[in-house]
Amino acid sequence: MSKTSLSALMGKNARLIPVLHVENPDHAVPLAEALVGAGVMALEVTLRSEAAPEVIARMRKAVPQAIVGAGTVTKPEQFARVRDAGALFAVSPALTERLAEASENVDIPLVPGAVTPSEMLAARELGFHELKFFPADLMGGTGMIKHVLPLYPDIRFCPTGGISDDNIMSYLELPNIFAVGGAWLATRDAIEAADWKGIAERARKSVAVATKG
Ligand code: 3PG
Repeated sequence: MSKTSLSALMGKNARLIPVLHVENPDHAVPLAEALVGAGVMALEVTLRSEAAPEVIARMRKAVPQAIVGAGTVTKPEQFARVRDAGALFAVSPALTERLAEASENVDIPLVPGAVTPSEMLAARELGFHELKFFPADLMGGTGMIKHVLPLYPDIRFCPTGGISDDNIMSYLELPNIFAVGGAWLATRDAIEAADWKGIAERARKSVAVATKG
């Protein structure tokens, strides 16, 4: 099935993806409003919380312009569940044949994790050209991504893990990176504290860093 890629959904200018751990569904809408208001359009709601499908559904309903997806998809049966909740994309930390097969049955793109040259090649053979690179800081960071560019010029990455305002640009300036993601944009603590103003300020700052370079 041919699908719109995550980068195409996001457009050229939106290049930050907060990884959101939300336990309380009532936090979904104010959180999405704070981030979208700050210019962060793609929101990855991690399935590490039981509430994630409900959070995705509420965000999509109340903030239709947000590109809401599901993160940490690690089981084949989760694809239909998050698609039914309204997720527009799925992200997994790794890739297996079973996950790849299950993702074929839903019309939303999967961005699977791959960190070694072998994993990247295996993912490409299964039809994936946009990959998550996690945990980026421990797996070679920008150095690794630069090394694989000449090998796989048709693969693009979204690094996550250890990303912050201090290193966003060192990643985003690489031609084979389409976005960076992470929890720093809206931490679990800030979400738990319902600090929507603080989250919006933090996100605005990161958007400014990512835009100016
Ligand atoms: C992820 O799921 O991508 C990571 O948890 C993000 O890593 P970070 O917490 O270092 O931002």
